[in-house]
Amino acid sequence: MSSFLSALSGQRPERLPVWFMRQAGRSLPEYKKVREGTTILEACLKPDLAAEITLQPVRRHHVDAAIFFSDIMTPLVLAGVDVDIKPGIGPVIDNPVRSAADVERIVAHRIEDASAISEAVRMVVAELGEQTPLIGFAGAPFTLAAYLVEGRGSRDHLQARAMMHADPEAWHTLLNWCAELSAHFLTVQIDAGAKAVQLFDSWAGALSRDDYTERVQQHSAKVMAAVEGRVPRIHFGVGTRHLLTEMAEIGVETLGVDYRTPLDEAAWLVPGLPLQGNIDPALLAAGWDALEDHTRDVVRRGRAAPAHVVNLGHGVPPTTDPEVLTDLVALIHEL
Ligand code: CP3
Repeated sequence: MSSFLSALSGQRPERLPVWFMRQAGRSLPEYKKVREGTTILEACLKPDLAAEITLQPVRRHHVDAAIFFSDIMTPLVLAGVDVDIKPGIGPVIDNPVRSAADVERIVAHRIEDASAISEAVRMVVAELGEQTPLIGFAGAPFTLAAYLVEGRGSRDHLQARAMMHADPEAWHTLLNWCAELSAHFLTVQIDAGAKAVQLFDSWAGALSRDDYTERVQQHSAKVMAAVEGRVPRIHFGVGTRHLLTEMAEIGVETLGVDYRTPLDEAAWLVPGLPLQGNIDPALLAAGWDALEDHTRDVVRRGRAAPAHVVNLGHGVPPTTDPEVLTDLVALIHEL
């Protein structure tokens, strides 16, 4: 079994597995080259291009898992929702979902044809062979809804958090639809050969524990339930120390931890669960000695968990020197 899948099942393989969130992307010159003249959402829907971009970081860095090149917005595009991803900004929705009528309109959308995704995943899996598993992913319902309601990224998600209290019925209708969309997106990737999945609830950290458990958690659990028993499930959010127990309850085999919470503390908060993380992405630009010291500390603290998949505590910054990532993989494989 691959070291990555073995760690997700709670084992400690001989070599620590490592991959990086956003390992495919702007830190790689070969990515910038093949993406020239194509928007990111167009690239996500061109199977040969999405497959090539997925494979680039595996070839270059020798990471232990590939993550499918796509975006959390892709299922919305497939369902015909008008979304865009603007360079340097992120997802933008021109007509944000603000009222019960807006919710009614959006939940009428369905994914009719996901063949571009299946095709890309099949190409990647054929190329990777048995050694390197492919991770499928989706956005968690809250993070998707946060973009739909705010219309773009936001620091405190005031409008989304207001809506869940002002109109709980519309909110639950919206999250339920987001959950169905994400479950569908994950299922398509698993059917085509993805060997694990990660659900990104990137912005859940903005929520109080009560709001999370009463207005969000059941929808994330529904996504995880849709793929239960098929492949191991990883769950990740940013700034979620106060929610780790609750996030672990939705049905996960491994919990991702951001760079703010040391892994030994996380292991104490969610005992018995394999952990993934949590090298601070800032350290990638802090010089090799600082990065090596920090990485050794992350790995040492990770021993408090039954198993550890090494990763960053959030995505690779676009300004990262790719050689640093290659060297970091080699270091982790020696530890
Ligand atoms: O290598 C990988 O991780 C796989 C590909 C991947 C992308 N987006 C490609 C991408 C994954 C897993 C995502 C998930 C995603 N997308 C999340 C969850 C993970 C996280 O970072 O918390 C979120 C919140 C999004 C929404 C989104 N899409 C943002 C905030 C941005 C950045 C905008 C910018 O320009 O800084 C995007 C665009 C995006 N998605 C890029 C990539 C490689 C960069 C833009 C580009 O290359 O044109």
